[in-house]
Amino acid sequence: MKIVVLGGGPGGYVAAIRAAQLGGEVSLIEKSNIGGTCVNIGCIPTKALLHSAELLSEIKESENFGIEVKGSVQVNWGKVQGRKEAVVNTLVSGIKGLLSVNKVRTVKGTGKFESKNVISVEKEDGQEEKIKFDKAIIASGSFPFIPPVEGKELAGVIDSTDALSLKDIPESMVIIGGGVIGVELASVYNAFGCKVTIIEMLPYILPTVDREIGNMAKKKLVTEGIEIHNGCKVTSIEETGGHLKVSFAKGSEQLGVEAEKVLMAVGRRANISGIGLEKTGVNTEKGCIAVNDCMETNIPGIYAIGDCTGKNMLAHVASEQGVIAAERTMGRNSKMDYKTVPACVYIRPEIASVGMTEEQAREKGIRYKVGKFPLAGNAKSLIMNETEGVIKIIADEKYGEILGIHILGPRATDIIAEGALALRLECTVEELITTIHAHPTVGEAMKEAALSVKKEAIHLQNR
Ligand code: NAI
Repeated sequence: MKIVVLGGGPGGYVAAIRAAQLGGEVSLIEKSNIGGTCVNIGCIPTKALLHSAELLSEIKESENFGIEVKGSVQVNWGKVQGRKEAVVNTLVSGIKGLLSVNKVRTVKGTGKFESKNVISVEKEDGQEEKIKFDKAIIASGSFPFIPPVEGKELAGVIDSTDALSLKDIPESMVIIGGGVIGVELASVYNAFGCKVTIIEMLPYILPTVDREIGNMAKKKLVTEGIEIHNGCKVTSIEETGGHLKVSFAKGSEQLGVEAEKVLMAVGRRANISGIGLEKTGVNTEKGCIAVNDCMETNIPGIYAIGDCTGKNMLAHVASEQGVIAAERTMGRNSKMDYKTVPACVYIRPEIASVGMTEEQAREKGIRYKVGKFPLAGNAKSLIMNETEGVIKIIADEKYGEILGIHILGPRATDIIAEGALALRLECTVEELITTIHAHPTVGEAMKEAALSVKKEAIHLQNR
């Protein structure tokens, strides 16, 4: 079976490896670096910068733990950037190695469909290669959306890709958009001493996060010095004496903030133009490739995965969709299940969730119960001096089936794996309670949150 995968991000390279494991003869076309947005200009470099920022904050707080740092703590931005690049390079070469041992042929160049079973690749040296295929998996990703705001083309107005490789730490930054990208990059630059202001259209930040958790996170970000304006409409960006001035309306008030950089973080769009989609007859919907839960497009033998399908722009969703599509190309009966998709925000404290938010349960008219365990009552959080946080469980009222788990706290992004498994197994509160959790860990607060659904938490006054 000749399989072509277009795009080598976390969707495409995983699909290529899985199809090759199952015996496919796979060609993976990538015009840039293997690893795509996630590895090169997304998740990995952002988290590498966040890790340095977190370390800096921890060093500044070290006296609380009896560790006294004499003299000032210096940030060497060049080295912070260098380490970020080293992490990216290590991962890129690791993926290349995996592709090679799995006998995936990587073709460097720009792929464009010529028909339902031929794709041409324009290589860097100008040569063209035509590849005939039996099945194709489109994994062409996404790009940052820049809204049509007056002044968007001014020097100093940047997107998330630029924000990961700034030459210096800016003295101030306005971030338009308080979603995941906006908030994570706000945390990075605020920790490194930049004055950060977030301007968000909605009345709250982090719209996809459970509201109660989102509000707690906002409070913490504000305490750390980030200025947040909600319910605002940006009207223009202009140059004023070496700075950029962002003007915005907040209700009837017209406000303005000046900064050295303006970061646009208002979402991403599917990257589907210029790949010859029209030659295949593949249908699109709202600017994304239309697929079903088997990752099939309307054209038999052509699949699409990841951000270009606009389903849920997360690397781990793309990878899972990649596995499903690859298995389908090789005759397996696999199907995507979005129920267990965890979502994480890598700020301090971390946010992680899986399943329904309280708002979604209410909207669906589900009768539910809530259990909460504040991390102030968790020994490991106290040891780490990170007690600001909570684990919140939403469970079906009648059977106690867990519908959603939402965490704000240290190690939330690791602990959520238990939550994803709980949803996968249609676990009840009782089953979480009767699972023994190690002590002392932050994870044991999960069991306490489950107990709290029944108002039986041990380390909490149940009310
Ligand atoms: P997003 O959709 O998460 O957030 C964009 C925010 O901008 C929203 O809050 C929206 O209300 C606001 N907005 C839109 N237009 C605006 C305007 N004109 N003025 C002010 N605010 C405006 O998009 P984001 O943060 O750019 O992220 C893109 C994708 O990447 C998302 O799907 C996100 O989940 C994913 N991502 C995931 C990460 C993670 O898993 N940790 C990290 C970074 C990105």
